[in-house]
Amino acid sequence: MSSILVTGGAGFIGSNFVLDWLASQDDTIINVDKLTYAGNLNNLHSLKTDARHIFVKADINDTERMAGLLAQHRPRAIVHFAAESHVDRSILGPGAFVTTNINGTFSLLEAARAHWSALPASEQASFRFLHVSTDEVYGTLGPNDPPFTESTHYAPNSPYSASKAAADHLVRSYHHTYGLPTLTTNCSNNYGPYHFPEKLIPLIIANALAGKPLPIYGDGQQVRDWLYVSDHCAAIRRVLRAGRPGETYNIGGWNEMSNLEVVNTLCRMLDELRPKASGHYADQITYVKDRPGHDRRYAIDARKIERELGWKPVETFASGIGKTVAWYLDHQDWVRDVLSGDYLKWVEKNYDARETPSEGTV
Ligand code: NAD
Ligand code: TYD
Repeated sequence: MSSILVTGGAGFIGSNFVLDWLASQDDTIINVDKLTYAGNLNNLHSLKTDARHIFVKADINDTERMAGLLAQHRPRAIVHFAAESHVDRSILGPGAFVTTNINGTFSLLEAARAHWSALPASEQASFRFLHVSTDEVYGTLGPNDPPFTESTHYAPNSPYSASKAAADHLVRSYHHTYGLPTLTTNCSNNYGPYHFPEKLIPLIIANALAGKPLPIYGDGQQVRDWLYVSDHCAAIRRVLRAGRPGETYNIGGWNEMSNLEVVNTLCRMLDELRPKASGHYADQITYVKDRPGHDRRYAIDARKIERELGWKPVETFASGIGKTVAWYLDHQDWVRDVLSGDYLKWVEKNYDARETPSEGTV
């Protein structure tokens, strides 16, 4: 039975990927995750009795352990999701981002290089190292700039995006220098089930239902290009199957929206599905101090992956957000579980320290 090794498969996108993969493919998955605050084995509860899912609690920085897993399972590919992923956390504590996103990717590349170099020629040719990255490496766009293409130069602005950019460069260099068959994907903002409620969409749903303020950074006019998570997972499967080694592929939803539009959409949906006793959810919107260095706009030109690999998103924002809100309403127990002691400490650190916005930002 062939297998793939996934890192970060207990996180938001990784767990969606593992679940989608095992629903449609035969390969075994070796799922390597350190289980940080963002990793949650409850996401994979439905696989408890599925022998094709092998979970390994490990840190990608442990090169020897990674080498041992590669030697033991001989996967045909590595799909690398593991990362520290939240921009606000990277501002308050960048060290973990350097450790996992840069050093961790380096460690995994070293294990992969040693393993791949020793494979017979036929297995070498079909092996893939797929690195999952972000559109944030390209920096920020003005309102009339064209969307990011694969040749847009890198200009990361946050410790998070800088650490992902560094990882992308390392991956690129392992292809050019050693010939490791790498693939890199740069995707826009995802949303959907199992999204940790520190990110905008799940945070707004959770706070709205709890009667808490809905925090809008700055003027709320920052633009993101939202993609439903299962579309991202399908794109990764497509790149893994048909992408050309050494290439990068931008993945996006062709769906630019300002944060305020997203939040107002969520409020309207909740007004309909879970009406408040009085008033509207939008009454809870609260403007707070902006994120330092806040990127104004991201937008992805996803024509290369459509032209070369025939992938495009299936969900519209309307269909994807409908599924997402329904999932959160049906999985309040999952939300309650992750809103644990550590999460509350984070909320305090990120939001209580924010002063009211300076005049003129609202
Ligand atoms: P996440 O924070 O939800 O999950 C990250 C997972 O990695 C967690 O399960 C965590 O336990 C694990 N992990 C962290 N450090 C580790 C380490 N040292 N060793 C092993 N495991 C470790 O992140 P996500 O939103 O699912 O993002 C997954 C990947 O996709 C990341 O590389 C991210 O940069 C990229 N990405 C995310 C988005 C998005 O909108 N969320 C968009 C584009 C790209
Ligand atoms: P986020 O979900 O953290 O993703 P990213 O920073 O990677 O794009 O944030 C999405 C947008 O929402 C971003 O412009 C910051 C903004 N935002 C708020 O306005 N309030 C919040 O409480 C959070 C978490 C984010």
